[in-house]
Amino acid sequence: MRILLVFIVGLVAFERIAPVLQTGSERTALQSTASLERRQTSRIVVTVPADDAELVVNGAAIGGQGASRTFATAPLAGGTHRYTFTVTWRPNPYTTMTRTKTVAFRGGETVRVNLTVEDPADRVRVIYVPTPADVAAAMVDLARVGRDDVVYEPGCGDARITTAAIRAGARRGICIDIDPERAKESKANVEAAGLADRIEVREGDALDVKNLSDVSVVFLYMGDHFNVLIRPVLWRELKVGSRIVSHRFTMGDWKPDKTVSVMSELGGVFELHLWTINQDVKRKLVANSAPHGRGAESRGLGAALGLGAALGHDLH
Ligand SMILES: C[S@@+](CC[C@H](N)C(=O)[O-])C[C@H]1O[C@@H](n2cnc3c(N)ncnc32)[C@H](O)[C@@H]1O
Repeated sequence: MRILLVFIVGLVAFERIAPVLQTGSERTALQSTASLERRQTSRIVVTVPADDAELVVNGAAIGGQGASRTFATAPLAGGTHRYTFTVTWRPNPYTTMTRTKTVAFRGGETVRVNLTVEDPADRVRVIYVPTPADVAAAMVDLARVGRDDVVYEPGCGDARITTAAIRAGARRGICIDIDPERAKESKANVEAAGLADRIEVREGDALDVKNLSDVSVVFLYMGDHFNVLIRPVLWRELKVGSRIVSHRFTMGDWKPDKTVSVMSELGGVFELHLWTINQDVKRKLVANSAPHGRGAESRGLGAALGLGAALGHDLH
């Protein structure tokens, strides 16, 4: 009887404390349920520059078409999350543009990411189309290349314009092409021409080249989008008196000093544009680099950190 009584009292006591005495796996399950309750998904609305643009977020493709793409994140733990958005689109059949933006936000927020605004960090790639040899020679003439000149050709293809410039008397040349095949071809052509000691060929993105302090002549056949992106680098880096000659494409609102039409013996008429760096250009550079509406300073620290959702406006 006594034994039975002790057993019953023990059973009642155990029932009382049982919820506190969880097994290891029960405890883990309860903890993760509690933290899941704290997690919240975010709704992300991304505006892209073209209906058929490809969107990649944190390395994963987000399907869909149209000017706006919406998706929900996985449940996110507390704190700030950083997502990187990369959009790729083709504004014309020969140009591919890439724009990347990193945005910080908290789980539960609705985030609006605007990828339609031009950014100096945009990347451009254009396809290979060579300038006819006689048009290349006309570009060298238009630049009035002389023996003190260092010429630079971003997107040099097979290096024909730079080679023509060196043959016309330029001191040194620098070629860069993003396509390994083109860089290889340029190198082979430069070596075959016996100009390896005068022309340096590099493989890479010309928009990564920021130091042009030695350069006095730039040759371009790269498209309007590329020209507008390289323009501030040319304004900042080139000395007064430096010339830029572009086959066909212009420089946004920076009007050329001269435009000529050249007839190629292969057929067709080709437009060439010449700009010369002068003091006005240097003044324009100072005016353009002053803080303005799109600067982070004018939108406050939250916007600078990409916390637009919390602040209730689009992220540019
Ligand atoms: C239109 S072709 C011009 C080739 C040469 N300049 C000519 O006129 O004969 C453009 C060249 O630029 C290269 N290219 C495109 N995007 C580039 C970039 N971001 N940086 C460097 N090279 C690029 C391409 O691979 C191609 O060889």
